[in-house]
Amino acid sequence: MRVAIAGCEGQLGRDIVEALEGHDLDLWTHERVEITDEGAVGEAFRAFRPDAVINTAAFHNVPLCEEEPCRAYTVNALGPRNLARVCEQAGARLIHISTDYVFDGSKNAPYLESDLPAPQSVYATTKLAGEHLIAAETGRFAVLRTSGLYGVHPCRAKGRNFVELMVKLARERGKVRVVTDEILTPTFTADLARQVVVVLEKGSPGLYHGTAEGSCSWFEFARAIFDIGGIEVDLQPTTSEEFPSPAKRPAYSVLENANLEDQGLNIMRDWREALEDYMGRVGLLR
Ligand SMILES: NC(=O)c1ccc[n+]([C@@H]2O[C@H](COP(=O)([O-])OP(=O)(O)OC[C@H]3O[C@@H](n4cnc5c(N)ncnc54)[C@H](OP(=O)(O)O)[C@@H]3O)[C@@H](O)[C@H]2O)c1
Repeated sequence: MRVAIAGCEGQLGRDIVEALEGHDLDLWTHERVEITDEGAVGEAFRAFRPDAVINTAAFHNVPLCEEEPCRAYTVNALGPRNLARVCEQAGARLIHISTDYVFDGSKNAPYLESDLPAPQSVYATTKLAGEHLIAAETGRFAVLRTSGLYGVHPCRAKGRNFVELMVKLARERGKVRVVTDEILTPTFTADLARQVVVVLEKGSPGLYHGTAEGSCSWFEFARAIFDIGGIEVDLQPTTSEEFPSPAKRPAYSVLENANLEDQGLNIMRDWREALEDYMGRVGLLR
């Protein structure tokens, strides 16, 4: 299959490129293809004529999105719309990555694809707008909402991932305070990348939840990192009140991979197993 990847230099994008081995790829770096520029998107598309476009590009620094809502809307909503439009015109498919933050967290049970979103921040609102604009432009789309990404490649927007941050703080300070009141599913990008490829090759169009299996608080995630890494640290529980942020985040954003399950396509592992694999790959096992 001929596949173009926007966001190919990002944390998830690089793993998707690796997972697509054997396919004919066109790598749309940010430098080459600005997704908010409809002309640039059209030009890149016509030059390669992909069967599918995968988009991981986003403006996802959550606090910064509050300060720059227009930029957030342009990148997170109009960018995906541009991609959907060009895909629709050429009969190609669009696979797009969205977020667990489209929910407000009040359900307190794993969210299904059929649950009503209620975004609480500029980031989440603009990502949801992106989902809607894609669906308005084309029926040949798959949107995968995911959660708490970490991977072997650096996140371009945020730098260090949570695992690296915990290890650094533990080594430098010997004491770390982590919140117990935000529940999520940490997801290893290498797993998600393989899942994206499965959806590309076998999935029907529509909305998907795609995270690791299970859930934990950030505190439990940190505990697992230190246990798996054999890292001695004084880990203290705290609440999100200690870390005020300009953006509201859902206190509970666990997603159920219901659509993947229904189609027999769910290959995501338990979050602990994936974390152990990741820590082995980056040399952090005890
Ligand atoms: N990180 C998480 O915990 C998390 C959780 C849920 C969902 N997500 C979603 O997962 C996706 C992938 O995240 P990630 O961690 O892989 O991000 P990342 O490492 O920051 O990578 C994003 C890539 O997109 C490129 N890009 C940004 N704006 C662009 C634009 N306007 N036009 C073209 N390319 C652009 C960036 O290039 P430059 O760096 O050169 O600008 C970068 O290569 C995003 O859609 C995000 O919303 C992330």
